[in-house]
Amino acid sequence: MKLVSAVPEVSEIWASNTEINLYNLYNKGAIFIKSFIPWIGGKNLLAKKIISRFPDDFQRYIEVFGGGASVLFHRERHAKTEIYNDLNGGLVNLFRCAKFHRAELQREISGYFNSRQFFGELKAKMELPGLTDIQRAGMFFVVARLSFGANMRTFGGQPRNLSADCLEIVEKRLENVVIENLDFYELIKKYDCNEALFYCDPPYNNSERYYDNRFEPEDHERLKAILSQIQGRFILSYNDNEKIRELYRDFKIIQVRRQNNLSEGFYKELIIQNF
Ligand SMILES: C[S@@+](CC[C@H](N)C(=O)[O-])C[C@H]1O[C@@H](n2cnc3c(N)ncnc32)[C@H](O)[C@@H]1O
Repeated sequence: MKLVSAVPEVSEIWASNTEINLYNLYNKGAIFIKSFIPWIGGKNLLAKKIISRFPDDFQRYIEVFGGGASVLFHRERHAKTEIYNDLNGGLVNLFRCAKFHRAELQREISGYFNSRQFFGELKAKMELPGLTDIQRAGMFFVVARLSFGANMRTFGGQPRNLSADCLEIVEKRLENVVIENLDFYELIKKYDCNEALFYCDPPYNNSERYYDNRFEPEDHERLKAILSQIQGRFILSYNDNEKIRELYRDFKIIQVRRQNNLSEGFYKELIIQNF
Protein backbone atom coordinates (compact mmCIF):
# COMPACT_ATOMS: atom_id res chain seq x y z
CA MET A 1 0.00 0.00 0.00
CA LYS A 2 1.64 3.23 -1.12
CA LEU A 3 0.89 6.38 0.82
CA VAL A 4 1.58 9.60 -1.01
CA SER A 5 1.46 13.19 0.15
CA ALA A 6 -1.59 15.37 -0.33
CA VAL A 7 -1.57 17.69 -3.31
CA PRO A 8 -2.99 21.24 -3.14
CA GLU A 9 -5.99 20.50 -5.36
CA VAL A 10 -7.07 17.80 -2.94
CA SER A 11 -6.96 20.23 -0.03
CA GLU A 12 -9.23 22.55 -2.00
CA ILE A 13 -11.77 19.73 -2.37
CA TRP A 14 -11.79 19.22 1.39
CA ALA A 15 -12.28 22.90 2.02
CA SER A 16 -15.55 22.81 0.12
CA ASN A 17 -16.74 19.39 1.22
CA THR A 18 -17.33 18.70 4.88
CA GLU A 19 -18.34 15.07 4.28
CA ILE A 20 -15.56 12.64 5.08
CA ASN A 21 -14.21 11.43 1.76
CA LEU A 22 -10.95 9.93 2.86
CA TYR A 23 -11.46 6.63 1.07
CA ASN A 24 -12.27 8.26 -2.29
CA LEU A 25 -9.10 10.27 -2.11
CA TYR A 26 -7.12 7.17 -1.31
CA ASN A 27 -8.53 5.48 -4.39
CA LYS A 28 -7.32 8.45 -6.44
CA GLY A 29 -3.80 7.74 -5.25
CA ALA A 30 -3.52 10.32 -2.48
CA ILE A 31 -3.55 9.58 1.20
CA PHE A 32 -6.46 11.67 2.26
CA ILE A 33 -5.27 13.61 4.56
CA LYS A 34 -8.46 14.35 6.34
CA SER A 35 -9.26 13.03 9.77
CA PHE A 36 -11.52 9.99 9.93
CA ILE A 37 -13.80 11.58 12.50
CA PRO A 38 -15.18 15.10 12.65
CA TRP A 39 -14.08 16.91 15.81
CA ILE A 40 -14.91 20.27 17.37
CA GLY A 41 -12.02 22.62 16.71
CA GLY A 42 -10.61 20.22 14.09
CA LYS A 43 -7.88 21.80 11.97
CA ASN A 44 -8.53 20.27 8.55
CA LEU A 45 -8.83 23.73 7.04
CA LEU A 46 -5.73 25.12 8.75
CA ALA A 47 -3.44 22.10 8.53
CA LYS A 48 -1.56 23.28 5.46
CA LYS A 49 -0.76 26.67 7.01
CA ILE A 50 0.36 25.05 10.25
CA ILE A 51 2.59 22.50 8.52
CA SER A 52 4.15 25.19 6.34
CA ARG A 53 5.65 26.60 9.54
CA PHE A 54 7.24 23.31 10.63
CA PRO A 55 11.06 23.35 10.74
CA ASP A 56 13.00 20.86 8.55
CA ASP A 57 15.12 19.24 11.21
CA PHE A 58 13.03 17.64 13.96
CA GLN A 59 13.08 13.93 14.81
CA ARG A 60 10.13 13.67 17.18
CA TYR A 61 6.62 15.01 16.43
CA ILE A 62 4.11 15.26 19.26
CA GLU A 63 0.45 16.18 18.74
CA VAL A 64 -0.39 17.24 22.28
CA PHE A 65 -4.14 17.95 21.96
CA GLY A 66 -4.77 15.33 19.29
CA GLY A 67 -8.58 15.45 18.79
CA GLY A 68 -9.29 14.17 15.27
CA ALA A 69 -5.54 14.52 14.48
CA SER A 70 -6.07 16.56 11.31
CA VAL A 71 -2.50 17.81 11.27
CA LEU A 72 -1.02 14.37 11.93
CA PHE A 73 -3.09 12.86 9.09
CA HIS A 74 -2.24 15.66 6.70
CA ARG A 75 1.10 14.07 5.92
CA GLU A 76 2.27 10.54 5.34
CA ARG A 77 4.79 11.09 8.13
CA HIS A 78 6.07 14.12 10.03
CA ALA A 79 9.03 12.59 11.85
CA LYS A 80 10.79 9.35 12.72
CA THR A 81 8.94 9.21 16.03
CA GLU A 82 5.35 10.43 16.24
CA ILE A 83 3.06 10.71 19.24
CA TYR A 84 -0.69 11.34 19.29
CA ASN A 85 -2.23 12.34 22.63
CA ASP A 86 -5.62 13.41 23.99
CA LEU A 87 -7.11 13.45 27.47
CA ASN A 88 -10.46 12.18 26.19
CA GLY A 89 -10.42 8.43 26.96
CA GLY A 90 -13.24 7.55 24.53
CA LEU A 91 -11.43 9.21 21.66
CA VAL A 92 -8.10 7.62 22.51
CA ASN A 93 -9.80 4.22 22.74
CA LEU A 94 -11.13 4.77 19.19
CA PHE A 95 -7.62 5.56 17.92
CA ARG A 96 -6.19 2.50 19.68
CA CYS A 97 -8.88 0.21 18.27
CA ALA A 98 -8.37 1.67 14.76
CA LYS A 99 -4.67 0.88 15.11
CA PHE A 100 -4.78 -2.54 16.79
CA HIS A 101 -8.25 -4.00 16.03
CA ARG A 102 -9.17 -2.40 12.71
CA ALA A 103 -11.07 -5.32 11.15
CA GLU A 104 -13.10 -5.99 14.32
CA LEU A 105 -13.93 -2.30 14.59
CA GLN A 106 -15.12 -2.22 10.97
CA ARG A 107 -17.31 -5.24 11.63
CA GLU A 108 -18.76 -3.53 14.70
CA ILE A 109 -19.54 -0.31 12.80
CA SER A 110 -21.12 -2.15 9.86
CA GLY A 111 -24.12 -2.99 12.07
CA TYR A 112 -24.91 0.67 12.81
CA PHE A 113 -27.16 3.06 10.92
CA ASN A 114 -28.22 6.69 10.82
CA SER A 115 -31.38 7.36 12.86
CA ARG A 116 -32.30 9.76 15.64
CA GLN A 117 -33.60 7.02 17.92
CA PHE A 118 -30.55 4.84 17.42
CA PHE A 119 -28.27 7.82 18.08
CA GLY A 120 -30.00 8.40 21.44
CA GLU A 121 -29.67 4.74 22.37
CA LEU A 122 -25.98 4.65 21.48
CA LYS A 123 -25.23 7.77 23.46
CA ALA A 124 -26.84 6.31 26.57
CA LYS A 125 -25.27 2.89 26.09
CA MET A 126 -21.78 4.24 25.47
CA GLU A 127 -21.51 5.33 29.09
CA LEU A 128 -22.48 1.96 30.57
CA PRO A 129 -19.96 -0.49 32.04
CA GLY A 130 -19.53 -3.96 30.56
CA LEU A 131 -18.79 -3.04 26.93
CA THR A 132 -15.67 -4.20 25.11
CA ASP A 133 -13.22 -1.55 23.89
CA ILE A 134 -14.24 -2.34 20.31
CA GLN A 135 -17.94 -1.85 21.01
CA ARG A 136 -17.21 1.41 22.78
CA ALA A 137 -14.98 2.61 19.93
CA GLY A 138 -17.66 1.74 17.35
CA MET A 139 -20.27 3.70 19.26
CA PHE A 140 -17.92 6.65 19.69
CA PHE A 141 -17.18 6.72 15.94
CA VAL A 142 -20.88 6.64 15.05
CA VAL A 143 -21.94 9.23 17.64
CA ALA A 144 -19.17 11.60 16.47
CA ARG A 145 -20.26 11.27 12.85
CA LEU A 146 -24.00 11.55 13.49
CA SER A 147 -23.96 14.38 16.01
CA PHE A 148 -24.52 18.02 15.11
CA GLY A 149 -21.18 19.67 14.32
CA ALA A 150 -19.46 16.69 16.03
CA ASN A 151 -20.69 17.93 19.42
CA MET A 152 -21.28 14.31 20.57
CA ARG A 153 -24.51 15.50 22.24
CA THR A 154 -27.30 16.25 19.75
CA PHE A 155 -28.40 14.40 16.62
CA GLY A 156 -27.31 16.15 13.43
CA GLY A 157 -30.13 14.85 11.20
CA GLN A 158 -27.84 14.84 8.15
CA PRO A 159 -27.33 12.06 5.57
CA ARG A 160 -23.92 11.14 7.00
CA ASN A 161 -21.81 8.36 5.59
CA LEU A 162 -21.16 5.69 8.25
CA SER A 163 -18.81 3.62 6.13
CA ALA A 164 -15.72 2.51 8.00
CA ASP A 165 -13.74 1.56 4.87
CA CYS A 166 -11.37 4.45 5.55
CA LEU A 167 -10.08 2.66 8.64
CA GLU A 168 -7.66 0.64 6.51
CA ILE A 169 -5.79 3.84 5.68
CA VAL A 170 -6.03 5.04 9.25
CA GLU A 171 -4.59 1.76 10.53
CA LYS A 172 -1.68 2.12 8.11
CA ARG A 173 -1.05 5.76 9.05
CA LEU A 174 -1.07 4.96 12.78
CA GLU A 175 1.26 1.98 12.40
CA ASN A 176 4.25 3.75 13.94
CA VAL A 177 2.40 6.37 15.97
CA VAL A 178 2.52 6.10 19.77
CA ILE A 179 -0.93 6.78 21.25
CA GLU A 180 -1.08 8.44 24.67
CA ASN A 181 -3.90 9.46 27.00
CA LEU A 182 -2.27 12.04 29.28
CA ASP A 183 -2.79 15.54 30.52
CA PHE A 184 -0.72 17.90 28.34
CA TYR A 185 1.64 18.94 31.14
CA GLU A 186 2.79 15.41 31.87
CA LEU A 187 3.00 14.56 28.17
CA ILE A 188 5.17 17.56 27.28
CA LYS A 189 7.55 16.81 30.15
CA LYS A 190 7.76 13.17 29.11
CA TYR A 191 8.59 13.74 25.43
CA ASP A 192 10.62 16.95 25.54
CA CYS A 193 14.11 16.89 23.97
CA ASN A 194 16.15 19.04 21.57
CA GLU A 195 14.75 17.27 18.52
CA ALA A 196 11.10 17.53 19.56
CA LEU A 197 8.39 19.50 17.77
CA PHE A 198 5.18 19.88 19.77
CA TYR A 199 2.04 20.87 17.92
CA CYS A 200 -0.46 22.18 20.49
CA ASP A 201 -4.10 22.87 19.66
CA PRO A 202 -5.77 23.37 23.05
CA PRO A 203 -9.45 24.16 23.57
CA TYR A 204 -9.78 27.81 22.60
CA ASN A 205 -10.12 30.50 25.18
CA ASN A 206 -13.89 30.84 25.87
CA SER A 207 -14.70 27.60 23.95
CA GLU A 208 -13.59 25.20 26.70
CA ARG A 209 -17.17 24.11 27.47
CA TYR A 210 -17.51 22.23 24.19
CA TYR A 211 -15.20 19.44 25.37
CA ASP A 212 -15.93 16.67 27.85
CA ASN A 213 -12.63 17.27 29.63
CA ARG A 214 -13.03 20.78 30.96
CA PHE A 215 -10.10 23.06 30.24
CA GLU A 216 -10.09 25.66 33.00
CA PRO A 217 -8.71 29.23 32.71
CA GLU A 218 -5.66 28.20 34.76
CA ASP A 219 -4.91 25.45 32.23
CA HIS A 220 -4.07 28.14 29.64
CA GLU A 221 -1.51 29.49 32.13
CA ARG A 222 -0.22 25.97 32.87
CA LEU A 223 0.31 25.38 29.16
CA LYS A 224 2.22 28.62 28.76
CA ALA A 225 4.35 27.73 31.81
CA ILE A 226 5.43 24.33 30.49
CA LEU A 227 5.96 25.58 26.91
CA SER A 228 8.25 28.29 28.25
CA GLN A 229 10.54 25.66 29.79
CA ILE A 230 10.98 23.14 26.98
CA GLN A 231 14.20 22.31 25.16
CA GLY A 232 12.32 21.46 21.95
CA ARG A 233 10.22 23.66 19.66
CA PHE A 234 6.48 24.26 19.68
CA ILE A 235 3.76 25.49 17.35
CA LEU A 236 0.55 26.48 19.02
CA SER A 237 -2.81 27.38 17.45
CA TYR A 238 -5.35 29.53 19.27
CA ASN A 239 -8.25 31.87 18.70
CA ASP A 240 -7.20 35.46 18.36
CA ASN A 241 -7.96 37.31 21.58
CA GLU A 242 -6.27 39.74 23.92
CA LYS A 243 -5.75 37.27 26.76
CA ILE A 244 -3.80 34.87 24.53
CA ARG A 245 -1.80 37.65 22.84
CA GLU A 246 -0.83 38.94 26.27
CA LEU A 247 0.03 35.47 27.64
CA TYR A 248 2.37 34.74 24.70
CA ARG A 249 3.72 38.24 24.18
CA ASP A 250 7.34 36.96 24.40
CA PHE A 251 6.87 34.55 21.46
CA LYS A 252 6.40 34.91 17.73
CA ILE A 253 2.69 35.44 16.98
CA ILE A 254 1.24 35.19 13.45
CA GLN A 255 -2.37 35.97 12.65
CA VAL A 256 -4.12 33.69 10.12
CA ARG A 257 -7.67 33.35 8.78
CA ARG A 258 -9.60 30.10 8.67
CA GLN A 259 -12.92 29.37 7.03
CA ASN A 260 -15.66 28.65 9.58
CA ASN A 261 -16.67 24.96 9.40
CA LEU A 262 -20.32 25.70 10.15
CA SER A 263 -20.98 28.95 8.28
CA GLU A 264 -19.65 31.10 5.47
CA GLY A 265 -17.56 33.46 7.59
CA PHE A 266 -13.91 33.41 8.60
CA TYR A 267 -12.26 33.06 12.00
CA LYS A 268 -9.16 34.95 13.00
CA GLU A 269 -6.68 32.58 14.55
CA LEU A 270 -3.18 32.77 15.91
CA ILE A 271 -0.19 30.58 15.26
CA ILE A 272 2.38 31.02 18.00
CA GLN A 273 5.87 29.54 17.98
CA ASN A 274 9.12 29.62 19.97
CA PHE A 275 11.49 29.63 16.99
C1 LIG B 1 -9.18 21.92 19.61
S1 LIG B 1 -9.26 20.22 20.02
C2 LIG B 1 -7.98 19.54 19.04
C3 LIG B 1 -8.41 19.39 17.63
C4 LIG B 1 -7.38 18.69 16.72
N1 LIG B 1 -6.22 19.52 16.48
C5 LIG B 1 -8.00 18.32 15.39
O1 LIG B 1 -7.58 18.79 14.33
O2 LIG B 1 -8.99 17.54 15.41
C6 LIG B 1 -8.64 20.16 21.64
C7 LIG B 1 -8.46 18.77 22.23
O3 LIG B 1 -7.81 18.89 23.50
C8 LIG B 1 -8.25 17.82 24.33
N2 LIG B 1 -7.92 18.17 25.73
C9 LIG B 1 -8.65 18.92 26.60
N3 LIG B 1 -7.99 19.05 27.77
C10 LIG B 1 -6.81 18.39 27.63
C11 LIG B 1 -5.68 18.19 28.48
N4 LIG B 1 -5.66 18.69 29.73
N5 LIG B 1 -4.63 17.47 28.02
C12 LIG B 1 -4.66 16.93 26.76
N6 LIG B 1 -5.72 17.08 25.90
C13 LIG B 1 -6.77 17.81 26.33
C14 LIG B 1 -9.74 17.74 24.02
O4 LIG B 1 -10.24 16.46 24.36
C15 LIG B 1 -9.76 18.03 22.51
O5 LIG B 1 -9.79 16.82 21.77
